Amino acid sequence: MRIPLLAANWKMNMTRREARVMVEDLLARVGDLRDREAAICPPFHLLSEVGSLLAARPSIRLGGQDLYWKDSGAFTGEVSAPMLRDVGCHFVIVGHSERRALFGETDSSCAQKVTAAQNHGLVPILCVGETLEEREAGRTQERVVSQLRGALQGLALDSGERLVVAYEPIWAIGTGKTDSPEEANRTMSLLRATLAELFGERIAAQVRLLYGGSVKPENIDAFMACREIDGALVGGASLKAESFARIIQFQ
Ligand code: 13P
Repeated sequence: MRIPLLAANWKMNMTRREARVMVEDLLARVGDLRDREAAICPPFHLLSEVGSLLAARPSIRLGGQDLYWKDSGAFTGEVSAPMLRDVGCHFVIVGHSERRALFGETDSSCAQKVTAAQNHGLVPILCVGETLEEREAGRTQERVVSQLRGALQGLALDSGERLVVAYEPIWAIGTGKTDSPEEANRTMSLLRATLAELFGERIAAQVRLLYGGSVKPENIDAFMACREIDGALVGGASLKAESFARIIQFQ
């Protein structure tokens, strides 16, 4: 019932030329996707270019990496939900751990961003995840549930298809270390149970849960075999057409 989603988070990487070469190569490798969806979230300056290249492939969607919750105005450096829609975005990442750690993102700013995204028809990919310290202290579950509740407070969700949640253990991002698929699946089943408390079982069963943190061609199949894991949010391995194509083509 939940269509797998393999999403690329390019972070602050790629020139226009590099992006064009990568996307053309990717499109040549993956063909039409029937039973799965992919997404590319490039930095803002590439949205228009990547969007044009993806126009002929509706199963590979465009996404932003962040947004501000106001529609327009004197907010230097920010980009709004209507702007992301205007350039063709379907998704927008909210509350990535790098934004939380480096740019002061909080659960309450995430909540405003999730609401703004949904009010304008964007599907937020809300990120949660624990630090190594929290992990070692046995506080993973408490941490991610509190982030989820904090970012979804007050939200009215009439369909689970309008929300994606990415579980990204911070210690696994860009480190080559991953959570074990079993452990990630356990944490993600708790996220789904929390979604059921917030929005009811039917809607919780529709929300796609992605795993993120050192996802690679070598480990994607094991993650995708887990019951609660509906896809992946991929950083480093999404920058190369060959590796992202293999991730999209998980078995
Ligand atoms: P890596 O795949 O490079 O570990 O990054 C994960 C991530 O942060 C995706 O949002």
